[in-house]
Amino acid sequence: MRALLTKVEQDSRLDRAGDRLQKVVLGTLRPRRLRDLLHGVTLGHPLHPAMVQVPVGAWISAAVLDLMPGQRRPATVLVGLGTVSALPAAVAGLNDWAALARDQRRVGLVHAAANTVGMTLYAGSLAARLSGRHGMGRALGFLGLSTVSLGAYIGGHLAYKQGAQVNQSVSELHRMTDGWHSLADMATLPQRTLITREVDDDISVILYRHGDEVTVMLERCPHQSGPLGEGEVQEIDGHACVVCPWHGSAFRLNGGEVVQGPSGNDQQILPTRIQDGVLQTRLP
Ligand code: FES
Repeated sequence: MRALLTKVEQDSRLDRAGDRLQKVVLGTLRPRRLRDLLHGVTLGHPLHPAMVQVPVGAWISAAVLDLMPGQRRPATVLVGLGTVSALPAAVAGLNDWAALARDQRRVGLVHAAANTVGMTLYAGSLAARLSGRHGMGRALGFLGLSTVSLGAYIGGHLAYKQGAQVNQSVSELHRMTDGWHSLADMATLPQRTLITREVDDDISVILYRHGDEVTVMLERCPHQSGPLGEGEVQEIDGHACVVCPWHGSAFRLNGGEVVQGPSGNDQQILPTRIQDGVLQTRLP
């Protein structure tokens, strides 16, 4: 299975269908605020993995009830709940998928295909149960559960092996050594300008001075490691934000909160102090 998924990552034949679907998704989910909501910007955490808990929980519970006598009615309710709640979860997943890198989109396409088949089987299961064909409903339910379990396995590969929608910058913190690190002389640090500096020789951070306050933030964008130091500072919703030059994610300079996707994760701000006129930072 692992070897197969590695082949899928590299299979460019999936790109034609993927590119078409990406256009449809981006063309359909038009308002940026809707896309941000689905990315989980308001939570500071990707929304899709949270939303799938409802259908997964309902479907697994229905399968357990299907193995017990006299539980047709609650099992039908749970299959219905799972099928209906899977739709918004799928929309949030497609929204995330459309902002992934190409190799991730290939695996994501297979993940979505498996889940679409699973949802179709569950819709058939629900229809069968509602029309009194409970044996057929159970059989389709177990088939659906097997298929969405396969989809979940592929989704795990996408998230944990390929790093889709996980915070790409947080590993920088794990490489940073303890203690205060000198970054810049305050006397020469310009106002309202993005400056890039390195900590421990290869951990890039951005500095942004506003008055006597200086924000120090990891430079790697949490979405896909874009260089925030090459981005722009814009005012969004009344807050000064740094906007990633790659896909437009924006993070508040006075806290690191994500205010605009596709990143669903906040950016890490580092503590600062001024020692003998020198700006220093350390691990949070
Ligand atoms: S890398 Fe995608 S928004 Fe920054």
